[in-house]
Amino acid sequence: MPAPTPPPLPAPPRQKKTDGRNNNPPAPPNNNSTAGPAPCVMYTGEHAGARVTVVWNGRCRSHEVDLVGTVPAALGTYAALHALRQAAGPGSCPPVDLVISAGTAGGFRARGAAIGDVYVSSSVLHHDRRIPLPGGFEAFGLGRVESTPTAALRAALPALKLGVVSSGNSLDYTDRCIEIMTKHGAHVKEMEAGAVAWVARDLFGCPAMFAIKAVTDVVDGERATADEFLANLGAAAAALQETLPRVIEFCAGKRPSEL
Ligand code: ADE
Repeated sequence: MPAPTPPPLPAPPRQKKTDGRNNNPPAPPNNNSTAGPAPCVMYTGEHAGARVTVVWNGRCRSHEVDLVGTVPAALGTYAALHALRQAAGPGSCPPVDLVISAGTAGGFRARGAAIGDVYVSSSVLHHDRRIPLPGGFEAFGLGRVESTPTAALRAALPALKLGVVSSGNSLDYTDRCIEIMTKHGAHVKEMEAGAVAWVARDLFGCPAMFAIKAVTDVVDGERATADEFLANLGAAAAALQETLPRVIEFCAGKRPSEL
């Protein structure tokens, strides 16, 4: 989402179809698949004066379900940022000013989370990448990335809660996952933010990144996760739909230090 300084990206060239696939995708007005077989789809538009690209990670061709998890999240983020960089022309790195990983999460009651809460990340990490080898492997596995500070955003939207977002590739967890999340003070667990942060910050050097996550289930509660997730998905999605436009309105035109 470009801010005025640095200047906004130039208007993208119109998409030229060659072989029926989108081989060199500029940011289109809407609904654009990224290059190659990556199944993600980009929807680009404008909100509050900012150009906004929504990336949907797509569906699994084999199992016909939405592509959840860190692998599709990394692929979708990479494909979208690469496509936006191509569209913006040479030297356009970083291609966007802010990356938001938006979605649902399980919340830890012990750390104050409740169903329907919406969290903004203070940091993101992975709880299921344990690599106890010498050198930097342990830290790489944990993949902790500090999020852009959002004091002003939270002052403007006081219902937003601040918390550590922990990513893994399972809806459930192992005892070791819980140990790691407890050690690192996770408020919520989900399946994408750590991967999005790595691509956005480490690979593309995007100047700002955070996660916005709506709570569907209580990890340390009594109810089975899948039942609770399905029962609350609609309400959590509604909370997200209500919050995200407000977040974008606040962030539009601001520098990372003003968030
Ligand atoms: N998304 C929503 N709830 C979740 C949970 N408990 N674990 C992982 N991802 C989630």
